[in-house]
Amino acid sequence: MKSSKNRAGTDKNIWWKDGVFYQIYPRSFCDTTGDGVGDLNGITKHLDYLNDGTENSLGIDAIWLSPINPSPMFDFGYDVSNYIDIDPLFGTMADFKNLLKEAHKRGIKIVLDFVPNHTSHLHEWFVQSRSSKDNPKRDWFIWEDRGNAKGGRPNNWQSVFGGPAWEWDEKTEQFYYHHFLKEQPDLNWRNKEVRETMYDQMRFWLDIGVDGFRLDVINHIYKDNQLKSNPYTIGRRPYDMQKHIYDKDLPECINVAKDMRKVVDSYGVEGSGAERMLVGEVYIKNPAEAAKYYGDGKDGLNLAFYFDFSYKSFKAAAFRDAVSTWEGILPVGAWPTYFLSNHDQPRHIGRYSKGGNGEIDMRARVAATMLLTLKGTPFLYYGEELGMRNLHIKKCDLKDPVGIRYWPIPIGRDMARTPMQWDDTDGAGFTASKTPWLPINPNRSRLNVKAETKDEDSLLSFYRKLIWKRKETPELTSGAIEILPNIPKGIFAYRRVVGDQSCLIILNFEKGSKSFLPELPEDSKDAVFRVLFSTHKDEGKNIEFKSPLTIQPYEATILKLEAV
Ligand code: NOJ
Repeated sequence: MKSSKNRAGTDKNIWWKDGVFYQIYPRSFCDTTGDGVGDLNGITKHLDYLNDGTENSLGIDAIWLSPINPSPMFDFGYDVSNYIDIDPLFGTMADFKNLLKEAHKRGIKIVLDFVPNHTSHLHEWFVQSRSSKDNPKRDWFIWEDRGNAKGGRPNNWQSVFGGPAWEWDEKTEQFYYHHFLKEQPDLNWRNKEVRETMYDQMRFWLDIGVDGFRLDVINHIYKDNQLKSNPYTIGRRPYDMQKHIYDKDLPECINVAKDMRKVVDSYGVEGSGAERMLVGEVYIKNPAEAAKYYGDGKDGLNLAFYFDFSYKSFKAAAFRDAVSTWEGILPVGAWPTYFLSNHDQPRHIGRYSKGGNGEIDMRARVAATMLLTLKGTPFLYYGEELGMRNLHIKKCDLKDPVGIRYWPIPIGRDMARTPMQWDDTDGAGFTASKTPWLPINPNRSRLNVKAETKDEDSLLSFYRKLIWKRKETPELTSGAIEILPNIPKGIFAYRRVVGDQSCLIILNFEKGSKSFLPELPEDSKDAVFRVLFSTHKDEGKNIEFKSPLTIQPYEATILKLEAV
């Protein structure tokens, strides 16, 4: 491994470092009211599936809930009209408190989505702000007079969801700024009252006992003070034809991340046992820029999503280089985090699919083994453990405004948001309604919790086993990472090390088998390894590296150092 400064693992058991996170898109998890939309009680109902303390359950440690606040749902909750309440579609505050209590009872933490960049246009703050130029909340949002840009707009900024980012307000004859939909006006974070009020909204939930926040587009919250136009570049959509140097990624965003860290740390700092955490949606492709959100490794975000990693194609070298880069860039003390799927992009099983069904399933197992054994906190996306696929949805059934706007270009997000598949019935155990909010994938007949629970060779059984193995093997949670050099093409191999204990993880991303002698450090060259977990090798079998080791196509194996 090139860099040594981040070689250390963790020395304490800190839940957000050792644990496995599971993202739930609440609309799609379980509907207990029969209206076709998932709700909080549906999540509570399935907590035992997530972790009942035994190996019969998935074994995750924390849930990230996509937004549950009141919202007119133009962007399905990412347009918040009240930060300190629950949308009736999902239930009541009592339902939420019950979910929190039941989750905590099982040792599961709850992390909420916090959307600081913008509100809904129906949020009371914006309603007041747009009511008159001299309203006390006018400056809480970004209002501008006509300018010289096309259409008389203040500058050339574009909405990431399509069209100009400036919306003309007839009543007060000014434009307001929205980086996303026009129903999502951007807050003005340069206004102190806005900052203080937003921190108070966070405190509201921390007081109730939530364990942290996922921060939506935290790198967007500041815009250039003088609203300078972005320079142009080459791209597919008008948004992509600009270099976004003035409308996002400003250094001030990092200062807010640090202030937010102070807010959560005031409820319990790292290692206190009561610590709360922040994970940032730092949607920046350049890892060096994204890493800055960790601050000095202690004063920034606890975790920052690594988007560059999640976009890699299914190639050993691509993932190896991404991990090596991230480890080399992160400040000392920063803890990495990895994900492969979320609610904004096609599920990775689809992105990695090529060849027959068997191959897809094998690739999913290699990917899962990597995600759950790298040094860093893994985030799973609901249904990934079942092998849920991206669903092609007819135009008339689309709900995502991005998908509708750009149809037939398949960049919408509904394909990855279809209902959780609990069983093989019409409603997939998700709903009793005949009209779920998004169509249910017909492959529920095969890919569902009930069927996969009974099948010990299913992907669900694979995830369960792997997560529980991880839990009982400190090297796989808190260990340092060392990437093995000089490995055949197609293989990604690394050690996870705690003191004199280590695990060796070998992943074959290709169809062909490979034979090689791993270059191990002196202290483990002549050692005996035991197969801890493997797609192909017999568990418990001893392995010595006296002759080359053969790795089968798409094999994922974890070896544990036994004796030297
Ligand atoms: C990122 C969220 O993940 C996405 O779903 C949302 O549309 C935008 N931020 C706007 O909030």
